Amino acid sequence: MPSHLEIVRLLADGELHSGESLAEQLAISRAAVWKAVRKAAATLGVEVEAVRARGYRLTVPLELLERERILAGIGADTRAALGPLDVLDEVDSTNRHLMALARAGAPCGTLCIAERQTAGRGRHGRTWVSPFGSNIYLSLLWRFEQAPSELGGLSLAAGAGIAAVLECIGVSEVALKWPNDVLWRARKLAGLLLEVTGEAQGPSTVVIGVGVNTHLPDKHAQSIDQPWVDLVTARGTPYSRNRLVSQVIEHLVAVAQGYAAHGFEPYRATWERFDRHLGEPVRLSLGLRQWTGKHAGIAPDGALRLDCDGSILTFQAGEVSLRAGETIR
Ligand code: BTN
Repeated sequence: MPSHLEIVRLLADGELHSGESLAEQLAISRAAVWKAVRKAAATLGVEVEAVRARGYRLTVPLELLERERILAGIGADTRAALGPLDVLDEVDSTNRHLMALARAGAPCGTLCIAERQTAGRGRHGRTWVSPFGSNIYLSLLWRFEQAPSELGGLSLAAGAGIAAVLECIGVSEVALKWPNDVLWRARKLAGLLLEVTGEAQGPSTVVIGVGVNTHLPDKHAQSIDQPWVDLVTARGTPYSRNRLVSQVIEHLVAVAQGYAAHGFEPYRATWERFDRHLGEPVRLSLGLRQWTGKHAGIAPDGALRLDCDGSILTFQAGEVSLRAGETIR
């Protein structure tokens, strides 16, 4: 029996495919085609239409990930810094997969990208909704000489890199919310989850996980518990997933190399240019406690500086929101 992915790959272009040609390509009987197509579509969560006497097509075409195309879109210097690139049809979480590879000795620069995640991880133990064939789920493994405690600004630097990529491909009004939400008009467009392990004095191993909503069908979005947006909405037109993956890899590698050499400082200006709340009155919540003050910028270690009636407090963790009654930019 052909795999679900094999079937959906044949239909990915969104064109009509006759039962006869599908039967031939999948080496199954014509009578078995519709059942196989329906099952594949249901399993992968895509929608297929059967057009009487003409065949089958996906209601929304998919641009599936292509390893060679992704590599061809990456400059030679960046490629030289990369380890193996795994393009997976399905994985529980690209971060978890890379963490396991890292423990088994995978080299710096190893990458994992997947068409779908069955247990995508978000911050604060949330689930990252990761349907098949849309969006980007990517993780990069990087090894640093620095101690884990010196890597506090890395997730911000990486977030600034992702915001810059999105701006560069034509998304205006991209913004960052500390520590690493990438927003468009106050709705989440992308998120980062960094997982760090290492010796107290270094070295450290980091998995930088990035999720970008490129096209999020409504039926999948129902389970997202925060305002969200996808790239096609924010940009106005679709953008190639493969091209975007190459650009994200370029930027993440540059950030990892730059951070290893110079820390957060070179990224502060970019971060502050995108910072949605800089200079605004905000509330910072950490567990059950809350502080209010003016967002006074980012410390060299990536901590949030909060001006509370003239005293500056710094926070390594927490959720930032605009203070009640303030208008959202
Ligand atoms: C957030 O909650 O904002 C962080 C979301 C990070 C999601 C990405 S998708 C690729 C990588 N693998 C995961 O399991 N999570 C990250």
